[in-house]
Amino acid sequence: MSTVIKGGTIVTADLTYKADVKIDGGKIVEIGLSLFGDEVLDATGCYVMPGGIDPHVHLEMPFMGTYSADDFESGTRAALAGGTTMVVDFCLPDPGQSLLDALKRWDNKSTRANCDYSFHMSVTWWGEQVFNEMKAVVLNHGINTFKHFMAYKGALMVNDDEMFASFQRCAELGALPLVHAENGDVVAAMQQKLMDEGNDGPEAHAYSRPASVEGEATNRAIIIADMAGVPLYVVHTSCEQSHEAIRRARQNGMRVYGEPLIQHLTLDESEYFDKDWDHAARRVMSPPFRNKQHQDSLWAGLASGSLQVVATDHCAFTTDQKRTGIGDFRKIPNGTGGLEDRMPMLWTYGVATGRITMNEFVAVTSTNIAKILNVYPRKGAILVGADADIVVWDPKRSKTISAKTQQSAIDYNVFEGKEVVGLPRYTLTRGVVAIEESTVKTQEGHGKFVKREPFQAVNKALSTWKELTAPRKVERTGIPASGV
Ligand code: URP
Ligand code: ZN
Ligand code: ZN
Ligand code: ZN
Repeated sequence: MSTVIKGGTIVTADLTYKADVKIDGGKIVEIGLSLFGDEVLDATGCYVMPGGIDPHVHLEMPFMGTYSADDFESGTRAALAGGTTMVVDFCLPDPGQSLLDALKRWDNKSTRANCDYSFHMSVTWWGEQVFNEMKAVVLNHGINTFKHFMAYKGALMVNDDEMFASFQRCAELGALPLVHAENGDVVAAMQQKLMDEGNDGPEAHAYSRPASVEGEATNRAIIIADMAGVPLYVVHTSCEQSHEAIRRARQNGMRVYGEPLIQHLTLDESEYFDKDWDHAARRVMSPPFRNKQHQDSLWAGLASGSLQVVATDHCAFTTDQKRTGIGDFRKIPNGTGGLEDRMPMLWTYGVATGRITMNEFVAVTSTNIAKILNVYPRKGAILVGADADIVVWDPKRSKTISAKTQQSAIDYNVFEGKEVVGLPRYTLTRGVVAIEESTVKTQEGHGKFVKREPFQAVNKALSTWKELTAPRKVERTGIPASGV
């Protein structure tokens, strides 16, 4: 059975034009005027765009003594409700655990996904086993990205020597390293000092992670990646210091990508000074929300192209889970939600305000990351042959964000009360309508794992250059006798 999306305006990362889109077998089969199909979806007054890709989510994540509350079912339902049709989660081996064993756990929990998904592998410890298994992860499991936490000392954090070794391994394998860039040693010391001084509330979380610890770590990761001859992707870039390091590296010819979150773009540090403990703790995440100057820097980066992707880092904990940290902010599970709200919030605060164009919106929510992850044009494109992961975006539909009507399993929403204008009329996952305005038609288990091939172009260019400029022994014509 074929479907035609009729009467809309196609908006891609580089084009805006009127055309219908015909879908069959989960793929786009034709784009043109006056198309016919068995089923017609009316897109009059709407923009037909590639479905969003959120490259940074943590569904049912084991973290800080608990599990994040949204699993692959509720998380991907929330994604689709907001126009996102693919998510990428982080596989997290326990310290000492085989990467391949950890993957089995992620394979099991993701079977309930409503939309397509992929995984990044995290390097949470280092040794010969990890070195060896990284190859199998890339070649046999279709994962070409490895995440490194420079923070969470004593838990997920890796040191510089481990990171350098892993980055070099990524270079060999055609993989892309990712970093959570915060100086974990400095954060741990600052946390202790704040606690010793009796500063135990959620605001101390923000005090312990100032922008400089992120800027320093971003810069360090960039230099280490450059020395390893590998590109680098910096997750949740939240501040000018980190953005500045990325911008400078790019100007110097390095392949570095930066990913602001919708939370950092639209919420600021004043949230942590709220008199209500729950309000502040619900917003505890790393890095923390920043001030307006940092937000302006992130928006400028999206507009100018020095930052490429807007994600959510969706890692939702209930109020009860957050309350584990009463009396010690270090125990508040770090993370916030956003999967359902990323696209409407970015449209409202980005496109509707004139900060970014519609085409840039598509670029930063879908196309750029599809290219960075090596799944373009299967994902992130409105092209014949691409997967029919499509959002029919109604720029006039509006709502007030509320936990009462959200898909996420948690009991609050960090964007509560925000008015958004611009919402999906339809969201399609591989040609199947999952969302029709406020009606949810998702199918548990419809989502499939998306394999990603190793990178050819950028990694090849970097390793060619690395080889060309590698240290070489100077062959000398004469060696003076020692002591002369
Ligand atoms: O606070 C956050 N960001 N929680 C999720 C884990 C991470 O650091 O990305
Ligand atoms: Zn992180
Ligand atoms: Zn409140
Ligand atoms: Zn994260």
